[in-house]
Amino acid sequence: MKILGISGSGRAPEVSGVYKLVQTILEASGCDYELVTLRGKNIGGCTACLGCVKDNVCKVQDDMAPLRDKIVEADAYVIGAPNYYSGINALTHALLERLYQFRHQEADLLWGKLAVAVGVGGSSGNLCCDEIEKFFSYSFIETVAKVSGQGAASCYTCGYGETCKVGALIMIYGEGVKIRQEDIPDVTKQPEVVAAAAEAGKLLGQRLRHGYDRREVTEKMQKLMMEKFKSST
Ligand SMILES: Cc1cc2nc3c(=O)[nH]c(=O)nc-3n(C[C@H](O)[C@H](O)[C@H](O)COP(=O)(O)O)c2cc1C
Repeated sequence: MKILGISGSGRAPEVSGVYKLVQTILEASGCDYELVTLRGKNIGGCTACLGCVKDNVCKVQDDMAPLRDKIVEADAYVIGAPNYYSGINALTHALLERLYQFRHQEADLLWGKLAVAVGVGGSSGNLCCDEIEKFFSYSFIETVAKVSGQGAASCYTCGYGETCKVGALIMIYGEGVKIRQEDIPDVTKQPEVVAAAAEAGKLLGQRLRHGYDRREVTEKMQKLMMEKFKSST
């Protein structure tokens, strides 16, 4: 069983809360895994060209093409995004939009697989987790856990955080705020977040190892989506 982890943060792994949480979850799963970062990748959103309708292969040539094979081959996913303007960042959104290539006719390439959604924000990553879960649901992928943490808003390190009138720090702490190294949020120092990540990884690993039934998961997710559509019309 192999899990594909994708960190949607554009920041370097050493400073990215998303990357660190995705890694913690993967390690805790006890499964084989690969962790890919979208940092520096050129992935555009779906252009609705419908070139994928017949064969479920996106025809747009960018960095999504090599990722497609990894997505198809993986048994499960851990996908994380940073909170930008109370939603997932554009890079992760672009990647998730491109899952549209798997949503035609009898394509069951992703159906019934399992996943964990990860979100990190200067305040919280909850909205990101919900958004990623929504994308998973459209591909009949079950989200077994969601992990949200507080990351370091750029205002802590941009150089103007203590005086910037539109930055997060004066808004949160008020005028006269002083940045101390120990106050900079780091997901790895939030015990409840680290515990939730470890728990999520363990759960995903257990579900994968103990022979879950992909067809059963698919049917459950199909039913769920039909109910959602019905209640939204
Ligand atoms: C363009 C931009 C918009 C942001 N908007 C929000 C926001 O609306 N809410 C929030 O909690 N954090 C916001 N942040 C802060 C990031 O979510 C935070 O820095 C987080 O740690 C990023 O994840 P990363 O460390 O994995 O890159 C924003 C950051 C940027 C660069």
